[in-house]
Amino acid sequence: MRALVQRSLHGPGDMVLTDIPRPDPGPNEYLIRVGAAGLNFADVSQTRGTYGGGPRPPYVAGFEVVGEVIDVGSRIADPFPIGSHIIGNGRRAFAEYSAVPAAGFVAVPDGWSDAESLGMILNWATALAALRTVGEVRAGETVLIHAAAGGVGQAAVRLARHYGARVIAAAAQAKHDVLSALGADEVIDARHPELARSILDRTGRVDLVLESVGKDTLGASMAVAKPFSGRVVIFGSSSGPGSVSTADLIFEHHAQLRSLHIGALAAAHPAGYDALIAELSALIERGVYPPGRPQMHSLGDGPAVLERLEAGVTTGKHGLDPRL
Ligand SMILES: NC(=O)c1ccc[n+]([C@@H]2O[C@H](COP(=O)([O-])OP(=O)(O)OC[C@H]3O[C@@H](n4cnc5c(N)ncnc54)[C@H](OP(=O)(O)O)[C@@H]3O)[C@@H](O)[C@H]2O)c1
Repeated sequence: MRALVQRSLHGPGDMVLTDIPRPDPGPNEYLIRVGAAGLNFADVSQTRGTYGGGPRPPYVAGFEVVGEVIDVGSRIADPFPIGSHIIGNGRRAFAEYSAVPAAGFVAVPDGWSDAESLGMILNWATALAALRTVGEVRAGETVLIHAAAGGVGQAAVRLARHYGARVIAAAAQAKHDVLSALGADEVIDARHPELARSILDRTGRVDLVLESVGKDTLGASMAVAKPFSGRVVIFGSSSGPGSVSTADLIFEHHAQLRSLHIGALAAAHPAGYDALIAELSALIERGVYPPGRPQMHSLGDGPAVLERLEAGVTTGKHGLDPRL
């Protein structure tokens, strides 16, 4: 089968399309025929060796995957039947077939194609968990969302509005039209040289920050969160690792720091993850979360799209279709 193999830790430019044997499903795994695989910032981080616990090269790349179950490994209680379409965060997703862990995989919503379902877990479930499970957003609160025009960011803007929050969306200026169209209440230039000051001048202090950019934004996130009641949910570091000292936390910023990893939530707190998916399913039924319209590419185009994602010049969701 064809698969994208990462050969070094020098970035997505060293990812090549290769023929490799089709995998067999191990215990607690499904074998799926891949219908769509998501291109995400986490894939970029893995190619640079900056994703915690990521694989050593050479490895078949790709986390987020949707496809048809064609074989079921041992030890899965009450498995999805052959022929069902499932989505989740796997490993070795950029390929024609992928052996995926049963944990955390859910059924594709009724009537949705594989491509339309992309983003359901890695973007929408992450955004929902950041806002609700971890961030505990309430109607009337003000939420600052960094990288708001990205995959997770756009989902977060829509969800925060749905839950009655006032949305402050930060992104590169070229992406501001997208955020206004999504209904963001204020749109902030993410490259402003005095980011914290520009946010405070426009909006005052905020109740909740969705912090996924790291080095370039963490200081501003802490500075604009309300003391004591404000929450900063950290779930990514697209610009590199950020840091905050214990002295800063004690004497300068008094917001609550919280963290999120959607895979860790599924593994460590299955009941919480199931509740999250149930909430997401209800949002789908009510049309709050509509089918996605990702820009789809062939497997061979994957490395170039990941390079654009790394450069921060993409907007919205991108995916790979092995049949293209
Ligand atoms: N913890 C979890 O479970 C989890 C799950 C999913 C995603 N994530 C994380 O959430 C973040 C968003 O993921 P995504 O896939 O939706 O990516 P994305 O938002 O589509 O892309 C990252 C965005 O970050 C912004 N950015 C700011 N400084 C940057 C820099 N120095 N280099 C590159 N980008 C920079 C850019 O937006 P602007 O140009 O508009 O500033 C860029 O478009 C990532 O950090 C990802 O690792 C975490």
